[in-house]
Amino acid sequence: MTDDVERPIDLLLVDDDDELRDDMTRYFSRRGYNISECACGEQALEFTDQRAFDVIILDMMMPGMTGLELLEKLKQRGNESEVVMLTGQGTIETAVEAMKLGASEYLTKPASLKDLDTLVRKGIKSRFLRKENDQLKAVIKQATPEPQGMIGESPKMKEVFRLIERTADSRNPILIQGESGTGKELVARAIHKASPLSDKPLVVINCAALPETLLESELFGHEKGAFTGAVSSKPGLFEVADGGTLFIDEFGELAGPLQAKMLRVLEDGSLRRVGSVKERRVQVRIIAATNRDMEKEVSEGRFREDLYYRINVLTIHLPPLRERAGDIPLLVERLIGPEWTIEPDVIPLLERYGWPGNVRQLINALERAKILASDETIRLANLPPEIVRSAESASAPAPGTSCDLDTLNKLHVEEIYRRHNGNKARTARALGIGRRSLYRLLEKYEIGPPQETANE
Ligand SMILES: Nc1ncnc2c1ncn2[C@@H]1O[C@H](COP(=O)(O)OP(=O)(O)OP(=O)(O)O)[C@@H](O)[C@H]1O
Ligand SMILES: [Mg+2]
Repeated sequence: MTDDVERPIDLLLVDDDDELRDDMTRYFSRRGYNISECACGEQALEFTDQRAFDVIILDMMMPGMTGLELLEKLKQRGNESEVVMLTGQGTIETAVEAMKLGASEYLTKPASLKDLDTLVRKGIKSRFLRKENDQLKAVIKQATPEPQGMIGESPKMKEVFRLIERTADSRNPILIQGESGTGKELVARAIHKASPLSDKPLVVINCAALPETLLESELFGHEKGAFTGAVSSKPGLFEVADGGTLFIDEFGELAGPLQAKMLRVLEDGSLRRVGSVKERRVQVRIIAATNRDMEKEVSEGRFREDLYYRINVLTIHLPPLRERAGDIPLLVERLIGPEWTIEPDVIPLLERYGWPGNVRQLINALERAKILASDETIRLANLPPEIVRSAESASAPAPGTSCDLDTLNKLHVEEIYRRHNGNKARTARALGIGRRSLYRLLEKYEIGPPQETANE
């Protein structure tokens, strides 16, 4: 960019007035510009086909092609020079037309060379700014290719972004692992979007949302009369997604008998509807997500090892938010939007907090702070109190105690659970996580119902 500035500016003068052209040529070459000149549009096109000019000074009224016509042709050919139009008096409409067509400046004749010079300089400046801007944007894009809707610049998230790009083209299944609210579904959608199947359907099914038998017929379909209530035959989501992507959420929840059926589809794309003997074949790209520790599920016998190996070909691990606290300022800034400001003590506190509900919990906390705000400012006072308290205690550990994030997390969950009198629905909502995730956390941290309170 600097060598651009230091090299002489290439200027093309297009005007049928020989005398004026001579004056301009003399004036601008004395100021160090590289001048090319011509008297008609046809010739100007020949020039611009051969080389790029920084600025073109263009007369509106010329025999043959008019300045406007030339301008239009230049833009059609993708010419990026700045164009300064010279118009006759009283032709303001044409000047407006010229600006619409992409001229950057215009000047009414008779024009002083000094004024013309000012406009040329202005044009050059904006051309460099635009170029610089484009280059910067390209550099930023290359450095952090942020898939749609995904915010993050930490090395861990950049690795995730890279994996999304690299796995998108493959037809192999993908397993996305991560805690609740870390963005698993967002990643699945980003992969589908970046894949060659992006114009095909993305079908989503959540294994935790349905009881086993219903899930089976949802996934694999059923024939008429296969079970009570099966009044007609119905294709399963595998068939619906044929040719596209099937996102199987909470894959770790898949019950034993369904795991066997799932394995068959993954192995050779074949399936049978419930109540049918007919084999059907599908070509479906499978993206599975889970917040369970699959190795543990396998080793404890809850999940088939062969199915795990089938699904675990390409795995993306989404880091919990506390492991990428460096992304928090960026996340907050982007999530609240440009009109909002943040009080200085907010970000450091958010960075210290453990975020068991990850990005979803952060979104909820910011929403709350926005609703409670009297002006467009995010304040500590408007954040959920449990977050503030937990983060504050994290910053000031009691003397002699050492606390890792996991322990803090546990204490936090315990505290919220206690405060909601052991009501799991409300606790989960306060933490910004699903009920199942809460069950898992309670199990993991071995947290029992608070004493002297009735459980749900
Ligand atoms: N990196 C990110 N940038 C921006 N928003 C994000 C990011 N990660 C997650 N989110 C947002 O957080 C919320 C939760 O994300 P998502 O539903 O994808 O999480 P999940 O891992 O599927 O959670 P769960 O396990 O609870 O199903 C969504 O609103 C999503 O848009
Ligand atoms: Mg999800």
